[in-house]
Amino acid sequence: MNIDVLTLFPEMFGPVVGGSILGRAAAKGILNVKTTDIRDFSNDKHNRADDYPFGGGGGMVMMADPIFGAMESVSAADKKVIYMSPRGRILDQQKIIELSQLDNLVILCGHYEGVDQRALDYWNAEEVSIGDYVLTGGELPAMVLIDAVARMIPDVLGNENSALDESIYSGLLEHPQYTKPRQYRGIEVPEVLTNGNHKLIDEWKFRQALTLTQERRPDLLEEYLDKDREFTKGEKRIIEEITKRKL
Ligand code: ADE
Repeated sequence: MNIDVLTLFPEMFGPVVGGSILGRAAAKGILNVKTTDIRDFSNDKHNRADDYPFGGGGGMVMMADPIFGAMESVSAADKKVIYMSPRGRILDQQKIIELSQLDNLVILCGHYEGVDQRALDYWNAEEVSIGDYVLTGGELPAMVLIDAVARMIPDVLGNENSALDESIYSGLLEHPQYTKPRQYRGIEVPEVLTNGNHKLIDEWKFRQALTLTQERRPDLLEEYLDKDREFTKGEKRIIEEITKRKL
């Protein structure tokens, strides 16, 4: 997958894109993230990429022309374009999976008060938010999106199961995890995890995941139970016990 990031701050991406899992994906040729400095496409004699908004109001607006130049340089006309913005639809795992299936993606990062609307309309940019709070720019949101997309591309994570098991992806919040030592400051790891009975371990994990989801995200539990799923007898028993709901 190729991701082009159009930004005024390309240097922010180095450590994230070059580090750990994303760095390895790049080395394997699975994911190629390239930044393009929008300022390089400014035709202004002071290299400016922003100007005052028509109609007044505070802050500056990123000009259409440098964005058009940057978009053309990455052939964005043939690619899916996303604009990181608190005005967009909130990102979820469904959207991440959809994006991870693309060969090419262009992400535009805004700064200041926003970007000239003509740049968004012309390049058919889909606005995406990472949550109901406002950041100083789209760079951190773009990195969040890239990280989440990257780990859904086959072979990016060492062990593919780790993406399938965990929170949200499976539809439930993940059960608690423990590692060595068995006893730490007098606190024991739950007995069932150490006795080697895999059926009991799976049931424990399922029960924990259901309980946590019920406590913290009843909306997700509702969705999970409403989907057509194949449950084993054991799973059905646990669901009934926890939700007092007959399947
Ligand atoms: N830019 C500023 N805040 C943002 C947010 N919450 N999501 C995406 N882009 C943003």
